[in-house]
Amino acid sequence: MKRTRILGVGRYLPERRVTNFDLEKMFETSDEWIQQRTGIVERRYADEGVYCSDLALEATRDCLKNAGMKPEDIDFIIFATLSPDIHFPGTGVFLQRKLGLTDIGCMDIRNQCTGFLYSLAVADAFVRIGMYKRVLVVGSEVHSHALNFTFEGRDVAVLFGDAAAAVMVGPSEDPSRGILSSHLHADGRFADILKLDIFDISQKPIVSHKMLEEGRQFPKMKGKEVFKVAVTKIPEVIQEALQANNLKVEDVDLFLPHQANLRINQFAAQQLGVPQEKFYNNMQHYGNTTAASIPLLLYDVIEKGMLKEGDIVVMVGFGSGFTWGASVMRW
Ligand code: ACO
Repeated sequence: MKRTRILGVGRYLPERRVTNFDLEKMFETSDEWIQQRTGIVERRYADEGVYCSDLALEATRDCLKNAGMKPEDIDFIIFATLSPDIHFPGTGVFLQRKLGLTDIGCMDIRNQCTGFLYSLAVADAFVRIGMYKRVLVVGSEVHSHALNFTFEGRDVAVLFGDAAAAVMVGPSEDPSRGILSSHLHADGRFADILKLDIFDISQKPIVSHKMLEEGRQFPKMKGKEVFKVAVTKIPEVIQEALQANNLKVEDVDLFLPHQANLRINQFAAQQLGVPQEKFYNNMQHYGNTTAASIPLLLYDVIEKGMLKEGDIVVMVGFGSGFTWGASVMRW
């Protein structure tokens, strides 16, 4: 069977570094609280005036360079984000325009912290059926423009950072290498646990002064409930993905888990009996970058020379929706 392989990875991190100490100056919090509860030390923030598609453009350029390709080589764009440039059209077309491309299809995927894995699964299907040969999958987020930097918003504000990361996928020449399977889930009963509902299509107008006064321009989260479900679903979907490939936990060389919170990932690794060093984390430096987090990890481990041909890699995500999923690949 034809398989899809990752042909290149790229990333972009805004220059502005914001430490926990910087946040201490904005609202009542502490570096100690943030590190203890989340593991995060610093994150990056994009400047005002910068769009999600701007970060994606830089990550795409880096990805194309690393894959030895040009924008014209892209057959299709899949764009994952929860912080789109505007309400519509989707952010994929803005990226397409910035790349100087026309005609190729663009699709936005709105699955939050699982957005990259949903996008990768769609790209994999396109490549395997022979519909497209070079699919660009981008995860990009500008969270910092929509965070509440006051006492009321501090639980959410400390978690998120801005970043973009992209992968180019295409057919694998070696049929044993590439994406082996993807497993995607969602449960809308939890849709209100973590959301940003700044507009309400049932109302006229869909955005009102009242909504702004209520602070609906900022995300709201029931953190404990996110934590509880995440630590159940992450190990569960990993086991599902391993069983589908007749693999055991010990067969996996590297786990690349979504970067929400160090404690969630430590807990999940412990439940699976995986040594912490195999459950790779980088949220210490970037915070939670939602759709960008998994490709950002992939970039890091490639840069550090941690992946060798034939390695089994499991990527796993969990986020708002709730949505969750896992993909297994042989590198
Ligand atoms: N700084 C200092 N104190 C804070 C902060 C802050 N930034 N935020 C909340 N607190 C206070 C609370 O007000 C509360 O004070 P009180 O005891 O006087 O009432 C105290 O800290 C404890 O608050 P809790 O909400 O109970 O803290 P908890 O231990 O649950 O930790 C956290 C909060 C870190 C958000 C945790 O629930 C968590 O990690 N949840 C997972 C959420 C997550 O990862 N979301 C990411 C997005 S979804 C995804 O990507 C999977």
